[in-house]
Amino acid sequence: MDQGPPETTRFAPLYDPLLAMPAAADGCFIIARAAQSLDGYIATKDGESCWIGGPEDLAHTHRLRSLCDAVVVGSATVRSDNPRLTTRLVPGPSPVRVVLDTERRLGPHYQVFESGPETLLLCASGGGGGAVHGTAEVVTVPRGPFGMDIGAILATLAARGLRRILIEGGGIAVGNFLRADALDRLHVTVAPLLMGGGIPAVRLADAKRFVWTTHRLGDDLLVDIPLVRRV
Ligand SMILES: NC(=O)c1ccc[n+]([C@@H]2O[C@H](COP(=O)([O-])OP(=O)(O)OC[C@H]3O[C@@H](n4cnc5c(N)ncnc54)[C@H](OP(=O)(O)O)[C@@H]3O)[C@@H](O)[C@H]2O)c1
Repeated sequence: MDQGPPETTRFAPLYDPLLAMPAAADGCFIIARAAQSLDGYIATKDGESCWIGGPEDLAHTHRLRSLCDAVVVGSATVRSDNPRLTTRLVPGPSPVRVVLDTERRLGPHYQVFESGPETLLLCASGGGGGAVHGTAEVVTVPRGPFGMDIGAILATLAARGLRRILIEGGGIAVGNFLRADALDRLHVTVAPLLMGGGIPAVRLADAKRFVWTTHRLGDDLLVDIPLVRRV
């Protein structure tokens, strides 16, 4: 029976942009991902989200982690998911973990601050030279129109040699990078599921229309959107 092309060939268009040398002048490549329901939610009102994408989407997320230098999440994702943000489902290294927590309100008892790979806690106040938060290094970043200044976040990471950046969620973080034109690529997995309400995938002030290519990920559909980054 024809099995179709091997996975490495089938997925090449998805991962080749991450494997190539970044074309942007600053040598960085910024990609965001989200898994959403058909009606555009990434979590229930209570913040549960682990089951939205299927196993192939989860493996895809771990593959993106393994190909990136850093994985970035907003404070609400840490608060509700308590993720480890490591690469476990595919071979490859774990990225540096970066948490956006403007006022440094998260406690140090989350998994990401307790053990595992290098972690940076980015905040606009409550930092200071050499401060630590559990096992994480605290780094102060100026404020911007959307929480912390996104250009300053990317410059901070690039100065540490972190140039391939995955914005893993949640919706506010992905939406803010999108609004700031700070993404080279957006991957949205759409699951065959209606939720009827919850946390929206992205919050934007203006409508945006894209060109996309689509890929099957098990029962889910992955939408791959190339973007023009201006930050
Ligand atoms: N389905 C999926 O793919 C997926 C993926 C990840 C997460 N999730 C779900 O998403 C939910 C959380 O998402 P969310 O949209 O509510 O919040 P979020 O994006 O996880 O966190 C947003 C918070 O991050 C902080 N932040 C600081 N600077 C920021 C900046 N420049 N840009 C963006 N955020 C900045 C802000 O909090 P401060 O003011 O406190 O700094 C902001 O309110 C959880 O329920 C989680 O389970 C789903």
